[in-house]
Amino acid sequence: MLKIFSNKTELALFFCDELVKSVLQKDEFYLCLSGGSTPEIIFQNLAKDHKSRIDWSKVRLFWGDERCVPPDDDESNYGMTNKNLLPFINIPEKNVHRIEGEGNPEEEAARYSEEIRNNVPLNNGFPKFDLVMLGLGEDGHTASIFPNQMYLLHSEKIFEVATHPATGQKRITLTGNTINNAKEIIFLVTGEHKASILRQILKENNGTLPATHIQPVSGSLKFYIDESAAKLL
Ligand code: 6PG
Repeated sequence: MLKIFSNKTELALFFCDELVKSVLQKDEFYLCLSGGSTPEIIFQNLAKDHKSRIDWSKVRLFWGDERCVPPDDDESNYGMTNKNLLPFINIPEKNVHRIEGEGNPEEEAARYSEEIRNNVPLNNGFPKFDLVMLGLGEDGHTASIFPNQMYLLHSEKIFEVATHPATGQKRITLTGNTINNAKEIIFLVTGEHKASILRQILKENNGTLPATHIQPVSGSLKFYIDESAAKLL
């Protein structure tokens, strides 16, 4: 399902309203956050206008990927969430499952895989998140599954170590099997610089791009994009 918004503020407001409704329907809500800069406006909206509309004690927070940096590093996805959301909502600390980017990448990928396996309900042998938020890189990567590491789409492991192809930065990433096992997957894509890659995925179904292979086994797949990102569709 594709939904086009006039701008990212409208997208963020809609996303937050939908999240309020989704959390209301469950006793426990397993939410996997995306990284990068796009979700920042969503976290700010949740912190400002929606913090009291969600019973955060029901929400279990996880990350779909993390850069292998300390949590206070500007590059840290947890750090961005901690700056824009976590201090403003009444979420129990035990519900926040941080990827320890400061650790040894291989050891942390194993540790976090175990933490997910122990804290997220399993379905068909893989964890089943209620919602996985995803961003989209201009090269067609999502989470930290890059075009030159397509094997991460089909790994039996829940999290693996990835390497950013341009910078060499190590990342810990959720793999394709668990992403596709989610009840709901929402891509959040804004900005004219994403128009070309979105066309390759949504119109050309370019199989060389990791995001093209995000196809939920039984859940729903949604693209929330703004008009700038939709220019070439
Ligand atoms: C990350 C993300 C990555 C991101 C896309 C889009 O850690 O960088 O998981 O997949 O979502 O690169 O990033 P922007 O939102 O900054 O465009």
